[in-house]
Amino acid sequence: MSDPQHQDPPPESDLDNEPPRRSRWLGVLIVAFALVVGLGMLNIGRLIIRPKPEVTAADRLVEASPQLQKGRDLVTRGGDCMRCHTVELDIVGPGFRNIAKRYAGRDDAVPYLASKIREGSVGEWGRIVMPRHPQVTQEQAELMAAWLMALGPPKDPAASPP
Ligand code: HEC
Repeated sequence: MSDPQHQDPPPESDLDNEPPRRSRWLGVLIVAFALVVGLGMLNIGRLIIRPKPEVTAADRLVEASPQLQKGRDLVTRGGDCMRCHTVELDIVGPGFRNIAKRYAGRDDAVPYLASKIREGSVGEWGRIVMPRHPQVTQEQAELMAAWLMALGPPKDPAASPP
């Protein structure tokens, strides 16, 4: 005759050591989710902090030099240059970065371009004539040309090897 009150206690140790399966998976999911969110925020932060390198290279140069700033203002404000030119694109006249790229190897690029700005030009890029700018002084023309050359070549990685 067996006594119903007298049973072996259930093996407690098993229950204690192993947490319920569901909550463990939930934990893994929460950690994974937190990782994804954390990495995403890091990535956004990196994008916000990191300046665009192709913009800052020329910009820093200009920021550091009052001469280049004068040249920039002469070209982009007041004068008629922007009626026919843009920095990036060829419109009526060639884009300024394309000009910088073309003459990058020439030591006399600044005086050469300064004289072209004052005397006008035709036949270098096409058949459209750039008019003379007799009101622009030699000094102003050289400031303009120096800024154009400081812009550097177009932002096309293929066009400008490292
Ligand atoms: C009426 C339109 C027009 C205006 C205004 C104009 N340009 Fe031009 N520019 C052109 C054209 C067109 C060319 C290409 C000429 C050629 O093929 O030789 C050119 C070429 C140039 C070149 C390259 C010359 C060369 O030998 O490669 C420079 C530098 C330049 N322009 C700067 C300026 C500046 C600075 C101003 C303002 C003071 C200005 N341009 C105003 C139309 C213009």
